[in-house]
Amino acid sequence: EKGGYDHFMLKEIYEQPRAIKDTYRGRLLADQGIIRMAGIDQNLEKFLNANRIIIVACGTSWHAGLVAEYIFEDLARIPVEVEYASEFRYRNPVITENDILIAISQSGETADTLAAIKMAKERGAFVFGVCNVVGSSIARETDAGAYTHAGPEIGVASTKAFTTQITVLTLIALKLAKEKGTIEESKYHEYLVELEGIPAKVERTLKTNPLIEEIAEVYKDSSNCLYLGRGYNFPVALEGALKLKEISYIHAEGYPAAEMKHGPIALIDEEMPVVVIATRKGHYEKVVSNVQEIKSRSGKIIAVVTEGDQQVTDLADHVVEVPETSETLTPLLTTIPLQLLSYHIALMRGCNVDQPRNLAKSVTVE
Ligand code: F6R
Repeated sequence: EKGGYDHFMLKEIYEQPRAIKDTYRGRLLADQGIIRMAGIDQNLEKFLNANRIIIVACGTSWHAGLVAEYIFEDLARIPVEVEYASEFRYRNPVITENDILIAISQSGETADTLAAIKMAKERGAFVFGVCNVVGSSIARETDAGAYTHAGPEIGVASTKAFTTQITVLTLIALKLAKEKGTIEESKYHEYLVELEGIPAKVERTLKTNPLIEEIAEVYKDSSNCLYLGRGYNFPVALEGALKLKEISYIHAEGYPAAEMKHGPIALIDEEMPVVVIATRKGHYEKVVSNVQEIKSRSGKIIAVVTEGDQQVTDLADHVVEVPETSETLTPLLTTIPLQLLSYHIALMRGCNVDQPRNLAKSVTVE
C-alpha cells in the first residue's frame, strides 16, 4: 500500500504532482480561460458581495489559510482574516451576514474547526469548506465547498493536503478576481497557464531529494532550527518548522525574515541552522540582507532559491533550487524541499515518520 516507498509520508510527498493535477482537473480550463467550481458558481453573488473572508483552520491547514490570505487580498482584493479555529470559537468574534467563513481541513473532522463553523453559521455567515475527506463532518456542516482531490493522506504529517489546499484556494481567488475585475485579463491567463504547469515543476523540485538527504545528514543532530521567509513564503517557513518539529522532535520556529532583528537573531550562532526561502520574485533583495545578517553571526544557511540564483548561493552553506514561477505560486514549490528535509532528518534520527509520538491524524478532541 506504500507503493514501493518506505513510508506513507514519502509516498505522499511524491504524489503531489498527481494530487495537484487531480485537484485542478475539470476546474481549471486554461485554454478557455475558465475556472469552473460548482461551490463558487452557485454562490457567486455571496462571494462577490462579501465584505470579508474569515479563514479558520488548525495546524498545516491554517498555514494554507495564511497563503490564501496573501492570494485573496493580492488578486481578488477581498479583506481576509486567518484565525486558529480554537481561538476564533472562544473569543466572541464579530461576524456578520456579509462575512464568508472558509474552513480548511484535510480530515474534515477537526473538533475546533467544526465548532467554529457552527458558531459562524449561528451568527449568519455563509460557510464554505475546503476538505479532503469526502462526506466528512465539516464537508457536511458547511453551506458549500470544494474538495481537494489529494487522495487519502495516511502519514500524520500533512504534505499533499497542504499543496492541494493551496491549489483550491488559488483557483477560488483567481476566479473571484476575474469576476470582480480586479485582475488584468492577460495576467489572469498567465496565472492559469502557470498553475497548469505547476505539477511538472513540483516533479522537477522532487529531483532535489538526493541533495536534501546530504543536507539532512549534516544537520540531523541539531537541537534547534529557524525557518525564515517573507511574503508568500512566510507561511511556508511556518509550515517547514512545523514539519520538522512534529516528526523529528527538533525544536524549530518559523518567522517572517524581517522579524529576525526583533528577537530571534539573538539565537544565531554556529550551531544554528537557518532555512531561508529566498526565491527571486518576492522581496529578494531584502532576503539577501537577512541572509547576510545570519552569515555575519556564523549561522548555517540552507537556502531555497530560484534556479540560476547567484547572490544567495554565494552566501549560503547549502542551496536547493526550485524552478521559476510567479510569486503567488511559489509556495507550491518551496514547500517541497522543506517536506523532504524533515522527512530525512526524522528518518536519520530513528523517528517514526508516519506516526510521530503524541499525534493523531484527526484531532476530534478540543
Ligand atoms: C501537521 C498536521 C496537523 C493538521 C491539523 C489540522 O502536519 O497534520 O497540524 O494540519 O491537525 O488537521 P485537519 O486539516 O484535518 O483539520
